Amino acid sequence: MTEYIPLPGTPVEELDTPCIVVDLDIAESNIAKLQAAANEMGVDVRPHSKTNKSPFWAHKQLAAGAIGVCCAKVGEAEVMVEAGVPEVMIPNQVIGKRKIARLVGLARSARMIVAVEASENVDDLSGAASAAGAELGVIIEINVGMNRCGVDGDGAVELAKQIVASPGLRFDGIMGYEGHTVAERDYETRKTNAEQAMAILTGAADQIRAAGIDVKIVSAAGTGTYNITGRVKGVTELQCGSYIFMDGDYLEVFNDFGAALSVMSTVISRQQDNFAIVDMGLKSISVDRGLADMISPVNAEVVSHSEEHTKIALKDAEARSLKVGDKVSVRPKHGDTTINLHEYYFGVRNGKFEQAIPIPGRGKFR
Ligand SMILES: Cc1ncc(COP(=O)(O)O)c(C=O)c1O
Repeated sequence: MTEYIPLPGTPVEELDTPCIVVDLDIAESNIAKLQAAANEMGVDVRPHSKTNKSPFWAHKQLAAGAIGVCCAKVGEAEVMVEAGVPEVMIPNQVIGKRKIARLVGLARSARMIVAVEASENVDDLSGAASAAGAELGVIIEINVGMNRCGVDGDGAVELAKQIVASPGLRFDGIMGYEGHTVAERDYETRKTNAEQAMAILTGAADQIRAAGIDVKIVSAAGTGTYNITGRVKGVTELQCGSYIFMDGDYLEVFNDFGAALSVMSTVISRQQDNFAIVDMGLKSISVDRGLADMISPVNAEVVSHSEEHTKIALKDAEARSLKVGDKVSVRPKHGDTTINLHEYYFGVRNGKFEQAIPIPGRGKFR
């Protein structure tokens, strides 16, 4: 099978579909913008690569000044380490012998940091790392109000003591993801909620320090809270991911970063005057945060999807002039889960294809 890679210079409307189109100028400017904001706030950037799943983008973030990347899963981390990313944090629990062995394996080629919340897991990590003669960085996940994972300050003190005494482990600090606040549309509410969450996180850091243990890393933030969390005294780094491309959901929160991502499809059927059928479907765009926003044609709307079809309502005469073979462009509501469906980004500058960017982290959920 020959892979479809367009020739550089191909006009965007001639790209084969369905495809993800990334405006390279906008994505690069988003990377620079977060880094500049972090520099100004005096915090580090450790971008979450669960959004882009691609070493191409991780290297651009590192070149802009990021101190490493986050990966949600060991499988994503393997992709990043293989591509030469020198430091990877997994701000999630890595559970089970098989995954821990892979994590320890990665520590031979990169500095690895992993989150924990349970004493047994600390023992398992320590046993595997010390048996391999490796060193794993460990951070404790604090529940800052999202009520997903993580312990409270008292639990963190106990774990920190255990980690410090565990061979093969290096206690690096703590993290807390304020995921319950990042997409809040109202800025003042978002700020109040995020600051409450960060008070829990920095309070836990203070408790650990009061027990005589150094806390170097205090890691937090999603895209929606970068400029709130980044200003909280005691937070040392931001782990935002979505800012790189933005998606329809985040664009309803703010436009601090530009919209770089779209999914392009082709009209394959025009049997009804008021509707067009295009060649993208649930296998090329996600719907977990709702139906995509229409970019072009303007007076049209995504109505429904099946696996490989999407029905588009055409709302005025101009939209109804759409013909079989014409292109339709939409912005997915959730970038991360859409990107995970594709093998390449089609990188475009000034409306012309520049390069295909592989997404080797797609589907790496183990
Ligand atoms: C642990 C963790 N950190 C950071 C993020 C940041 O995400 P975003 O910038 O996409 O809001 C996420 C998102 O799911 C996350 O789970």
